[in-house]
Amino acid sequence: MKAMSLILVVLFSLFSVAQATAQDISAGETIYQANCRNCHGPTAKGMASFPKLTGNSADYIVDLLEKYRAGETVGPNTPLMAPLAKDLSDEDIANLAAYITTTFN
Ligand code: HEC
Repeated sequence: MKAMSLILVVLFSLFSVAQATAQDISAGETIYQANCRNCHGPTAKGMASFPKLTGNSADYIVDLLEKYRAGETVGPNTPLMAPLAKDLSDEDIANLAAYITTTFN
C-alpha cells in the first residue's frame, strides 16, 4: 500500500513537471480575454476589419505574432495589430497560439 502511494506521488510529480513545460492554455486565455478579444471577438471569429483567428495552425499564429512583434508589415492594418504584439514574450505567443487553436478551431 505504501509503495502504491509512493508510485502515485512520483507519477503525480512527473505529470506536474510535464504540465509546467507544455504550453499553458489558461495563461493564453488570460492574455486573449484581456488584450485580444476586443478586436478579434470572444470566440476569435473576428469582426469588420479584424481578421478571424480560427482555422489556422498554431505555427501560423506564432509566425504572424513574431512578425508583428518584430515590426514587420503583414497586412494593410498592421499598425492596429503591431502594438498588441510588441510586449509578448515567446512564451506568451506559444500560450496564445495553443489557446486559440485548441479552444476555437
Ligand atoms: C486594436 C485591435 C486589435 C487587437 C486588440 C488585437 N488585434 Fe490582432 N489583428 C488586428 C488587425 C487589424 C489585424 C490585421 C492586421 C494586418 O492587416 O496585418 C490583426 C491580425 C492578427 C493576426 C493575424 C491574422 C491573420 O490571419 O492574418 C493574429 C494571429 C492576431 N492578430 C492575433 C492577436 C492576438 C493574439 C492579440 C492579443 C495579444 C491581438 N491580435 C489583439 C487587430 C487587433
